[in-house]
Amino acid sequence: MNLTINGRKRRLDVEPMKRLLDVLREDCGLTGTKEGCGEGECGACTVLVDGVAVDACLVPVAHVEGCRVVTIEGASAASRSGKALQNAFVEHGGAQCGICTPGMIMAALPLKAGASRDQIKTALAGNLCRCTGYMSIFRSVEAGLPPSRQALRRTSRRTSTKRQTAKRNRRANRR
Ligand code: FES
Ligand code: FES
Repeated sequence: MNLTINGRKRRLDVEPMKRLLDVLREDCGLTGTKEGCGEGECGACTVLVDGVAVDACLVPVAHVEGCRVVTIEGASAASRSGKALQNAFVEHGGAQCGICTPGMIMAALPLKAGASRDQIKTALAGNLCRCTGYMSIFRSVEAGLPPSRQALRRTSRRTSTKRQTAKRNRRANRR
């Protein structure tokens, strides 16, 4: 089997029907991808295949021959949100036991900058967490995604208004 895993081309001598999850964990040593239910219910095993979030426990490795697979170990290199999301989960209490966390982050990775709470909920709809109650997970994703262009424009307008006001005040104080 030939596939690209976390940007590295791999040639793997494995059974074509072996689950992608097992290939990643057992044959590639990438144990960041977790097994929860093993039957497509919990999302703990989420990885990206050609940019799309999939449950690795449901996919025979033959189905991803020639594809680009990204796991949590490659998240930071694959997307500028990768590291930020991981940090945000730590800072905002999005992870407790941590079993669901790699899957949550991989499911959130394809989201666009400034995604709304509803878009985040939809992206994470297939991912279950038995610990956090979800609100801290949603907050973590919101904090980890880059702001939308609109929000950036608003912030830069606010900063430039503040700078102008400070300049005016300095001038007035000098008089
Ligand atoms: S382990 Fe794959 S969906 Fe639960
Ligand atoms: S942090 Fe434990 S299952 Fe989500």
